[in-house]
Amino acid sequence: MRKPMIAGNWKMNKTWSEAVVLAQGISNRYKSQWDAVDVVLCPPTVDLKAVHSVLEFDRSPIHVGAQNVFWEPSGAFTGETSVAMLDEVGVTHCIVGHSERRTYFAETDEMVNKKVLALVAGGLVPIVCVGESLAVRDADTYLDFVTKQVHAALAGLDSEQVAKCVVAYEPIWAIGTGRTATPEQAQEVCQAIRSQVAADFGADAAEAVRVLYGGSMKPENVDGLIAEPDIDGGLIGGAALKAESFVQLIKACV
Ligand code: PGA
Repeated sequence: MRKPMIAGNWKMNKTWSEAVVLAQGISNRYKSQWDAVDVVLCPPTVDLKAVHSVLEFDRSPIHVGAQNVFWEPSGAFTGETSVAMLDEVGVTHCIVGHSERRTYFAETDEMVNKKVLALVAGGLVPIVCVGESLAVRDADTYLDFVTKQVHAALAGLDSEQVAKCVVAYEPIWAIGTGRTATPEQAQEVCQAIRSQVAADFGADAAEAVRVLYGGSMKPENVDGLIAEPDIDGGLIGGAALKAESFVQLIKACV
């Protein structure tokens, strides 16, 4: 049985003080019976320590995730953040290969793979984002496109490591657009992702790996999506920026 996950990707939103208010709002509304769901808050890098401190003070089971990492352990890489730096401020998860990073910061499958390997080696859980553009969907090659991204991102891991990873299927045409994939569309790709993991790492890893859906997931559409057998939760953008809507998404997964 896979534990559902709801992860909030705050993107480049919330200053330090705003992040404290949002984390506190989520923590205040959190009910202990929701610990059947893994909850992860992914604020901007400068807010990680503050968000962790709020949750630690509340003895909250909510995890803290980063939105990006660099694969080298240290050195002359201006502007970058290492796995050890994240680890020391209490970060346990990290989004990797979000389509915005692939588009605006030229992240390739190879770079995504290096980040995944570095995170796993450092004991952090990667949340690996994959997903096709509208052009790829319209060309009807999306299953091939997405499964190739998964294959490339996880290369070099062993099956036990893959079992602990999280993959988020985020069709680019659904991100921030209000246009959600239908449950059937999301399920088709999430199932293909799991089949790819089975082909590369075996049935046990495929059964254990969590596959999330992301792209305009909100309280109004969460139920249909998470009812699908291969969708284990969500990576949430817009609806993660308000405590009220975010906790409704957690509740829907309990
Ligand atoms: P959205 O973003 O929920 O605002 O569509 C999801 C994401 O990009 O992770």
